[in-house]
Amino acid sequence: MKKTTILGTGSYLPSKVLTNHDLSKILDTSDEWIFSRTGIRQRRIIADGQTCSDLAHEASLKALEDAALTPNDLDMIILATLTPDKRMPSAAFLLQNKLQAKKAAVYDIGVACSGFVYGVSIADQYIKTGAMNRILVVGVEVLSKVLNWKDRSTCILFGDGAGAAVLGPADGDEKIILSTHLFSNGSLSHLLEIPDQWVKMDGRQVYREAIERMSEASCIALEKSHKTIDDIDLFIPHQANIRIMEAVAKRLKCPREKIFINVDKYGNTSAASIPIALDEAVKQGRLKKGDLLLIATFGAGFAWGSVLIQW
Ligand code: ACO
Repeated sequence: MKKTTILGTGSYLPSKVLTNHDLSKILDTSDEWIFSRTGIRQRRIIADGQTCSDLAHEASLKALEDAALTPNDLDMIILATLTPDKRMPSAAFLLQNKLQAKKAAVYDIGVACSGFVYGVSIADQYIKTGAMNRILVVGVEVLSKVLNWKDRSTCILFGDGAGAAVLGPADGDEKIILSTHLFSNGSLSHLLEIPDQWVKMDGRQVYREAIERMSEASCIALEKSHKTIDDIDLFIPHQANIRIMEAVAKRLKCPREKIFINVDKYGNTSAASIPIALDEAVKQGRLKKGDLLLIATFGAGFAWGSVLIQW
């Protein structure tokens, strides 16, 4: 069986910044309330006319450049989003066309915040078995389009953005995916949903579940690989809320300096949250050869999971 490596990463954030102060002018809220409960200071919002596949395109070009590959090298594109440009065709097809990745088989997956981790796990299976060689996995959201900007309990939490990674078979011992673990529970789907137009959420219940499930997925990743939290050099949790991340880290006994945090700048970008954080961690030099990286995710569905990578 082959091993899967991360060949390159990229991310793209729209340039428009919406701060908590901006929100306090249109809603009964404040920077103090939002920051103290979520750790979010600002988020990015798409420009008029920009779409999900536009953001995905920008992030993908950067990931391909980082991997020193061209779109023609891709065998597959897996695009994770809950906010595609249109219902049909899937955003992956629009991205394929923008990239001119003519040899790739492409499709979307709808696993909300956990979409990128699910995508990495799927890509890992194709690559390990030798069925595919180069797979682009993208997490992208334009959540600003599905938020009720009059609902202060939800619209303050989310932002737009995209992140991508190119995966392929390893020919050495660097950036190896050691394991992926995926979990789902549809019986709690009503706690976080878009029943018609806007995101609707039971914040308290989601908060509790997110802590339980991300802790669980992290522990399983460690146990199955016979590692402990002391072996972990960097922990990238889904960037939903600083209090959720801190509570998970506390349960795992993971020191705060090992947690990667950028929720203050971008809010919760759902499927884009982990690949944006991964790309920033790489570009900031937070990962060096041999480091052990733990990724944990949780989101609507509910779906949760983890990825363990030997950098
Ligand atoms: N500004 C000011 N006041 C607000 C705001 C706001 N933006 N939003 C809600 N309030 C008020 C409420 O109306 C309520 O007022 P009341 O007591 O007079 O009724 C009060 O603040 C407390 O509201 P709660 O909802 O109980 O606040 P809580 O402390 O639970 O925090 C929050 C809310 C931040 C949403 C929290 O529940 C949370 O983080 N939940 C997790 C949600 C999440 O991260 N979802 C992301 C999707 S899933 C995922 O990605 C993991």
